[in-house]
Amino acid sequence: MEKFYITTPIYYPSGKFHIGTAYTEVLADFIKKYKKMQGYDTFLLTGTDEHGQKIEDKAKDSSMEPKEYVDIQAEIAKKLWKCMEIDYDKFIRTTDEYHEKAVQKIFEKFLSQGDIYKGEYEGWYCKPCESYFTETQLVDGKCPDCGRDVVKMKEEAYFFNMKKYADRLIKYYEENPSFIQPDFRKNEMINNFIKPGLEDLCVTRTSFSWGIKVLSDPKHVIYVWLDALTNYLTALGYTSDNEEMLKKYWPADLQIVGKDIARFHLIYWPIFLMALDLPLPRTILVHNWITMKDGKMSKSKGNVIYPEQLIEKYGLDATKYFLLKQVPVATDGIFTPEEFIDRYNYDLCNDLSNLLNRTVSMVNKYFEGEVPSYNGTINEADEDLENSAKETIEKFEKYMEKYEVANAIQAIWSFISRTNKYIDETSPWSLAKEIEGEETKEKEERIEKLKSVIYHLVASLKQIAIMIRPFMENTSKNMLRQLGIEEEVNWSSLNDYKNIENIKVIEKGEPIFMRLDREEEIEYIKDLMKK
Ligand code: MSP
Repeated sequence: MEKFYITTPIYYPSGKFHIGTAYTEVLADFIKKYKKMQGYDTFLLTGTDEHGQKIEDKAKDSSMEPKEYVDIQAEIAKKLWKCMEIDYDKFIRTTDEYHEKAVQKIFEKFLSQGDIYKGEYEGWYCKPCESYFTETQLVDGKCPDCGRDVVKMKEEAYFFNMKKYADRLIKYYEENPSFIQPDFRKNEMINNFIKPGLEDLCVTRTSFSWGIKVLSDPKHVIYVWLDALTNYLTALGYTSDNEEMLKKYWPADLQIVGKDIARFHLIYWPIFLMALDLPLPRTILVHNWITMKDGKMSKSKGNVIYPEQLIEKYGLDATKYFLLKQVPVATDGIFTPEEFIDRYNYDLCNDLSNLLNRTVSMVNKYFEGEVPSYNGTINEADEDLENSAKETIEKFEKYMEKYEVANAIQAIWSFISRTNKYIDETSPWSLAKEIEGEETKEKEERIEKLKSVIYHLVASLKQIAIMIRPFMENTSKNMLRQLGIEEEVNWSSLNDYKNIENIKVIEKGEPIFMRLDREEEIEYIKDLMKK
């Protein structure tokens, strides 16, 4: 079985994650489940990034020891992933002993190879980002990443010789076009960071103590990003006495990161791997953000939404659908209460739920609940629907090759619209007219046509239910149950569009999504944002 190793960033464990932060994990979980359905041996890694000054400060604010603080925080993260049904295979914490030991070994290796050297650092330091910046990197005198104040700092420190690898990195980008997705992020890195001259990276700190100590010089603490990035390897046992998992799963097939941490993953991370003489991941996917109408989500702006709040009221599937559908390839996706409710009412209720409901009730009304077989003659509308079904799978798979998930999901919804249109085109209710009446040739033809229509509707719904499985699992199962399809489905079940003979739908269909009162719900979400 071919393997598929997928990672998300390890999260800063400080407080609850809002819907934007949760996005990376939801995206990774969707891709993992899709790959799993395709038959891959998948492994999804996530975890928490627990060292550094920021965490030390937070713990102090809560009058706790840092370890005590992160123990609580890591549980909060796990609880959220459970509530969101994230199917991760391993949760790494950077305070795990095996990770700390491995990071120390990696540091010593770099030191002995001459990749890391000792020097003195002076620069502009952003505390929340735990990053140093040069004068020219500042934007209006502030941190270029978060826009907050920076302070001048000086300390004895170790440096990683990034310059040495700059040309090799650019060459790697050029020779491996699928390494960075989407493609435009590559030019961003080259033009904004590499070409202007890659600075050596300061990889130790002495100003605080909450971190992994340098083995050979313990007054230095290893820079959180060197500590954090290597989790993708240490989680698989790198440098331990059992590297079986590493052999099996490395290099990663997909590493997903938000745009704010692209620089760390597209520059420093591949360079660390080069220095370790390890192969680079096949693809690093950089996603855009979920923002609010007035910019970033933040408590101070009073515009934060937490996933649990949406899940509790609107369900997990609707929440995941919205998040995944909302972020385009090249720009940020915006959350507004209006958009959320409209997508719910139009896409989920009108388009999907009604299609299922109408179909189930027609099977009951015209064929006593049993999906009819039909004689195989296909008219124009049937043929068109069948072609569209096939094209939908092709389109979806093609988009997913580049991890353009919003487009992939849109392809399914276009097919849902196409299927709804098919009902209007074939108007089964008029074909069913006088079904009880006298036997004539014309009536016989009409019934054959009706059988074909119902048959094609059920076949299309089965396909839709399978295709939404990786991100709307409960809805998918509910749809198949209502259609009377009990078999276990996977991606290859899609090859069997017509395999629905003799199934019996449930007697009374149940709406999978109920129409919401638009104004009332918008107010409800707005109130949540103020909390
Ligand atoms: N700890 C680092 C990652 C280290 S990886 C070696 C970190 N953690 S984080 O908790 O701040 O971010 C986790 C993920 O959430 C990142 O992928 C980040 O881009 C993502 N997001 C944070 N806010 C977001 C939005 N508003 N929208 C979408 N994703 C966002 O960074």
